[in-house]
Amino acid sequence: MHWTKILALALAVPSIAVVRFHCSQLNSFNATMDTKKDMPGESTCTTCQYAEDFSNYWTAVMYFRAQNGSYKRVPQLGNNQFTNANGGLTVYYMQDAIYDQQQKSKVTAFQPGFRMFIGDIAARTLAEAARFRQLTYTCLDTFITRQPEMMAFPDHVCKEGIMTTLRFPTCWDGKNLDSPDHMAHISYPETGTFESGGPCPSTHPVRTGQVMFEVVWDTKPFNNLTWPTGGKNPFVWSFGDATGYANHADYVFGWKGDALQKILDTPCIFNCTQAGDKIQAVDDMNKCTQKAIVDEDIDSWLPSLPGGFQAEYGPTF
Ligand SMILES: *[C@@H]1O[C@H](CO)[C@@H](O)[C@H](O)[C@H]1NC(C)=O
Ligand SMILES: *[C@@H]1O[C@H](CO)[C@@H](O)[C@H](O)[C@H]1NC(C)=O
Ligand SMILES: *[C@@H]1O[C@H](CO)[C@@H](O)[C@H](O)[C@H]1NC(C)=O
Ligand SMILES: *[C@@H]1O[C@H](CO)[C@@H](O)[C@H](O)[C@H]1NC(C)=O
Repeated sequence: MHWTKILALALAVPSIAVVRFHCSQLNSFNATMDTKKDMPGESTCTTCQYAEDFSNYWTAVMYFRAQNGSYKRVPQLGNNQFTNANGGLTVYYMQDAIYDQQQKSKVTAFQPGFRMFIGDIAARTLAEAARFRQLTYTCLDTFITRQPEMMAFPDHVCKEGIMTTLRFPTCWDGKNLDSPDHMAHISYPETGTFESGGPCPSTHPVRTGQVMFEVVWDTKPFNNLTWPTGGKNPFVWSFGDATGYANHADYVFGWKGDALQKILDTPCIFNCTQAGDKIQAVDDMNKCTQKAIVDEDIDSWLPSLPGGFQAEYGPTF
């Protein structure tokens, strides 16, 4: 994607709504989340710029595996335009794509208690990952590199870091806030993608806004260390996947009142404050923290991943 081109294009089509904002990293998180509770509704502060957004946006943690087999957690960076944030992720909600706009109708916001998961923790091959068309990696040659997007961990040094981009499905069954696998109540469009204006299947007829996260992983501290031989990449997800095919994300809706629907209904590009939402300063976002619940060292050089996991390279390595 070329941002200048996109922006010019987007500004020429003022009927779309795309909000883009940052949420700082919340360093710890509860081990269990009561599925019956509207957990974000019980939060007292938010690490997100939009002060009325108490949603949970979750991704796994990335580690670097040195040649001697030790692991080190990869820090996150604030994204482009949000470099003073304490890591975390950039969130988008789209009424239409930011390029190639084809989706003209209004989209529905989520409801309290709504949650979804996308990806497969057990995936170790491209075929298994291909079910989820839009969970990708971008090798950042510069801080604003946005293409190409790949399904696996990059196999070479990325000068400025690695970006993961996670797009959620955009069709809802209209009834269930959740499902046993956290995915059955949602679906990708029947054909094409949200970006191409693909229609929702009859089983999941309600078109929602597209939720997308971008996470920037600061791999620079590891770029000078010796990488593994034989084309293996040295990065591994906290639960052991070293292929990258098990990239996944979690979302729990938590906007106050109809704040999100208002944004999705208001033509705007990136900064959608005209919908009347309160914005908090990055310093205030960074102040919203939580005490660690799990008493385990996760930041030193470690002999195994937290929880005792080891890197798994899958059949293609
Ligand atoms: C956090 O997790 C603990 C341990 O599982 C549980 O007892 C507690 O109720 C949870 N707290 C919240 C706010 O969900
Ligand atoms: C393993 O390698 C890393 C990176 O070179 C180094 O910092 C760490 O101390 C080593 N760990 C052990 C146990 O040798
Ligand atoms: C890596 O090596 C390059 C070239 O020697 C150097 O400019 C850079 O500062 C080093 N980076 C780190 C994180 O040590
Ligand atoms: C949006 O623009 C307003 C006014 O320029 C600014 O105060 C606010 O911080 C911006 N918000 C975001 C999320 O960029």
